Amino acid sequence: MEGLRHLFLNKEEEADLRGDHGEARRIAMSVLTKLGDSLGADKLIPIGSAHVVESSYQVACDAGIEILERLVSLGAKCSVPTTSDPAAIDLQNWMDLRIPEEYARKQLRLAELLNRLDVAPTFTCTPYHNINVPKFGEHVAWSESNAVAYVNSIYGARTNRYPAYVDLFAAILGKIPRFGLHLTENRKGKVLVKLDLAHVLDSDYPILGTYLGLEMGERVPVITNFPKEVTGDQLKAIGAAGAAVGALSLYHIEGFTPEARTLEEAFQGDEPEEKIAVDRSTLQNVRDKMSTVTSGDVDIVAFGCPHASIFQMRKILDLFKGRRVKKGVECWICTNRLTKSLADDIGYSERLSSSGVRIICDTCCNDAPIKGWGFKTMATDSGKFARYAPINADADVVYGSTEECVESAVRGEFE
Ligand code: F3S
Repeated sequence: MEGLRHLFLNKEEEADLRGDHGEARRIAMSVLTKLGDSLGADKLIPIGSAHVVESSYQVACDAGIEILERLVSLGAKCSVPTTSDPAAIDLQNWMDLRIPEEYARKQLRLAELLNRLDVAPTFTCTPYHNINVPKFGEHVAWSESNAVAYVNSIYGARTNRYPAYVDLFAAILGKIPRFGLHLTENRKGKVLVKLDLAHVLDSDYPILGTYLGLEMGERVPVITNFPKEVTGDQLKAIGAAGAAVGALSLYHIEGFTPEARTLEEAFQGDEPEEKIAVDRSTLQNVRDKMSTVTSGDVDIVAFGCPHASIFQMRKILDLFKGRRVKKGVECWICTNRLTKSLADDIGYSERLSSSGVRIICDTCCNDAPIKGWGFKTMATDSGKFARYAPINADADVVYGSTEECVESAVRGEFE
C-alpha cells in the first residue's frame, strides 16, 4: 500500500507515521495519510485551529468513548487551539430535562475525556463569533457544518467539512492534507445569484440558505445585490440552513466577503457557469418546502440554531413583552454557556424564565435525545432545525419568523 502513496511526507511526518513520536500520533497520521491519498492531496499543511463534533454522545455513542479513552491512555493532546461542538445534554442542568441518568453519565465521561485531550469545553456550534476566530487565508480543520460555511465564507479561512475524528486527528497533529477548499482554485465562484428583493427580512436568511443548499450542489455561489446592513446572526443562518439541506460550505457576497471584493475576484477572472435571479416568489416556494405543516397546534418552539447570540436573546425577550409561554408548550433557546452567563448578568435569563422560556446550554434540539419525548409539532425560526426536527424530534415542523414563533409559543398554535 505504501507504494501507492501520492501524499508527500517530510521526515518528521514519516517519523510520525512509523510511530517514532508515539502511538497516538501514529494513529492520527495513518488516518490523515489514508484520507489525503484517497482524495488526491499532495502534502500536509499546518492548521491554525480545529473544531470537533465528537463532543456529543448522540454523535459519538459508546464507540466514541472507547476511541477517546484509547487516545487519552496514549497521552494524546491537541497541538493547536481546539474547540468542541455541542454536547447531547445541558451539562449542568441535565436533570431538569428528561435525560436518563446513564445517558448523562456517558456524556459527562465524554466531556471529561475531551478535557484531557485539551479540547476547550466550549460545547457550541458558534465558536467563531468570539472564542475560536480564524484569520483570513488560515487553514483550519473544522467539522460543524454551519461553522465551516461561516469561517470559509465570512472570514476567508480554509477548511473542508471534516467528519468526526478527522477533525480530532488533525488537531493532534496540527496538520491536514491539502485538498478541496484548502486550494484557491476550488474556492472560485461558479454561480452568480442575484437577489431581486425590495426588502430582505430577518426570516429570509434561513430561506436563502435553504435555497442555496438545495440548488447549488457542490458549486460555490456568488451573491450579488445583497443588503449592506446584514448581521453576523443573519449570516450564520444562511450557512446553517444551506449546509443542513445540502453541501454549502462556501459562499461569496460581492463587495462584502473577503474573497469577493469584486465579481472578477470572486469568479477568479472567469465567467459564471450560470446566472440565477432570486425574487420573492423563489423564496416563498422554498419557504413552503421548509414546513411539514403550515398551521395548527405546536407543543415545542425552538430558537437558537445555530446557538443564539445575546442579541437574539434580547430580541426574543422583547417580543414576549412580558407574556408567558402557553401551559403545555415548551419554548427553548439553545445557546452556549458564555452567552448564557452574559444573559444572566444582564437579567435576560431571569426575565425569559419568568415568561416560561427555557435557556438550554451546551446542546440543542438536534443533539439532545428528544426523539420519543412525544412532541408533535415544532415551530422554529431556524432553517437547520426545520430540516432536522422531523428526524431528530420525530415531529412535524413549521418554519416561521422569530416574531411568528414567539406568538406561537404564547398561543400554543401557529397561524
Ligand atoms: Fe448548532 Fe445544533 Fe443547530 S449544533 S447549528 S444548534 S443543530
